[in-house]
Amino acid sequence: MPEPNHPVPVHVVLEPTGRYAAVTPGSSILDAIRQAGVEIVAVCGGRGTCQTCIVQVLEGNPSPLSPEEKALFSEQHVVQVYRLACRSAIIIRTRVFIPSESLSAHLRLQVEGRGEDVQPDSPIKAVDVDIPPPNLQDLRSDETKLKETLEASGLRNTRISLPVLAEASLALRRLSWSVRAVIDRIGPEPRLVTVLPRETRVLGLAFDVGTTKLAGYLVDLVSGDIIARSGAVNPQVVFGDDVISRISYANEGEEQRRTLQFRLAATLNELVETLCREAAVERAQIADAVVVGNTAMHHLFAGLPVRPLGEAPYVPVVTDSIDAPAVDMGLHLAPGVNVHLPPNVAGYVGADHVAMLIASDAVAKGHTAIALDIGTNTEISLITERGIWSCSCASGPAFEGAHIENGMRAVRGAIERVGYRDGEFHVKTIGDCPPVGLCGSGILDAVSALRQAGLLDARGRFTGNDPRIHSANGRAEFVLVPESEAGHGKDVIVTRADVHEIQLAKAAIRSGIEILLAEADLGYDELDLVIVAGAFGTYLSLESAKRIGMFPPLPTDRFQQIGNAAGLGAVQLLLSETKRAAARRLARSIHYVELTTHAGFHDTYVESLLL
Ligand code: FES
Repeated sequence: MPEPNHPVPVHVVLEPTGRYAAVTPGSSILDAIRQAGVEIVAVCGGRGTCQTCIVQVLEGNPSPLSPEEKALFSEQHVVQVYRLACRSAIIIRTRVFIPSESLSAHLRLQVEGRGEDVQPDSPIKAVDVDIPPPNLQDLRSDETKLKETLEASGLRNTRISLPVLAEASLALRRLSWSVRAVIDRIGPEPRLVTVLPRETRVLGLAFDVGTTKLAGYLVDLVSGDIIARSGAVNPQVVFGDDVISRISYANEGEEQRRTLQFRLAATLNELVETLCREAAVERAQIADAVVVGNTAMHHLFAGLPVRPLGEAPYVPVVTDSIDAPAVDMGLHLAPGVNVHLPPNVAGYVGADHVAMLIASDAVAKGHTAIALDIGTNTEISLITERGIWSCSCASGPAFEGAHIENGMRAVRGAIERVGYRDGEFHVKTIGDCPPVGLCGSGILDAVSALRQAGLLDARGRFTGNDPRIHSANGRAEFVLVPESEAGHGKDVIVTRADVHEIQLAKAAIRSGIEILLAEADLGYDELDLVIVAGAFGTYLSLESAKRIGMFPPLPTDRFQQIGNAAGLGAVQLLLSETKRAAARRLARSIHYVELTTHAGFHDTYVESLLL
């Protein structure tokens, strides 16, 4: 029998992951979610004021509605048992569904980026044709007539798969035998993709599948215009924040791997829906798709095993580009639509990096340049006229606000900028609301500002007698925002451990840069350009990154922050066969440098730890 003072824990099961926590009765659902290790957005820190921690209770009766919930939820929401996780206490065994928005509310989803314009040169062509309707004198089959009509338009030996033929046969009759035939010219023979009403706009899809975020673009394949763009959170985040945890989950079994694939495809299908709605077009108009991602995301999307990516020597299953039916990858597009997956370079340098290099055009322009895409893994390429060297470094999740005491994702209330002027620290938050934590660019700035203020030494230890430096529980911390000014009534602090996390991340990136420069026998002052891509790369302060030694001390005008260049690279690869061929040549020509076994890596890394 449990002692009276030790109540029996109750189980809380969290959907859709199936994770669970055993908590004391009376704990909040938010506590249970956190205990289970699931990251939910709770911007106000659980005070019931931000409305970001919404969940749905599927089983079990939580405590009665709080005043905040009564004010927030409609009658229908109450019936469907929507609750604020922080305001609902658990009484009995409970099953809770966490909607993806609560894992991601207001998260910056970057779909903007800079890239060179590309001349549309799509492998998809549209031909308007009139096909003779059948009559008693003409009993040829639909297939025969389609092929003969296309041949008369210069398209010899067009292949028509069974599912495409089934749809085309119905469409021919619906459209009175006067149609737009959409043809894919990839491969030795043309292939019929779909049949549409005459003069219909033919569209393509480009997706950048990041570990955390997805970016989607709907593109007119003739004009090259992006007619809609949208972002979403990668639904796989509930199975782990980083690539390694996704690989581990997939390795638990075939069902788990399929779950990751299925959930990703489901969200991409929702994104297609959103894009089509925004552009007021039909899904049926989509005739081609390109998907880029890091090698693990690529493999999970394509239904390939990821076990080899998680075990030394970390080889990919495939590096060459792939063209395969969209339906095989779970995308709800017309049956003839193929997805093009551009080439990967190595286990940890994927097609998204190749796409980013294509978009930046640094190779074609002959620059001597470093191009980096900063994330949990940072891919770096050194581009020279003598060749391209690439590596991947484990920069960790600190720049996403993870493993930082008061870290958070880039959502409202996150400090995104910290400056130091005249002895004062100044902070700016996303949404200009009272601060509740630090996102990646904020913690990077904070470390740089502390160093500038002389409150950190080169090893990352606090120095001096500033009253804002405290020692709590045997650890040093700096109060960046006092509780009286914070949005959740608690100090926003930077700890010694936070500084250490940033040192590890920036050392990984800087040592990657230095190793590539050494491979090419170049000094950093010989670089014309440092191209910084990715969401964090867009928002980071170059001055802060240079001050703490993450980037070489080059003049700021040699840096370019180009946003989601991988997404724009995917658009270019969608639009241009020439670019697809360039991507294949590029990926094959890259000298991949494995840092973990590189003789100079350890010493360079240790040196780069200094601020
Ligand atoms: S309302 Fe629940 S965390 Fe803000």
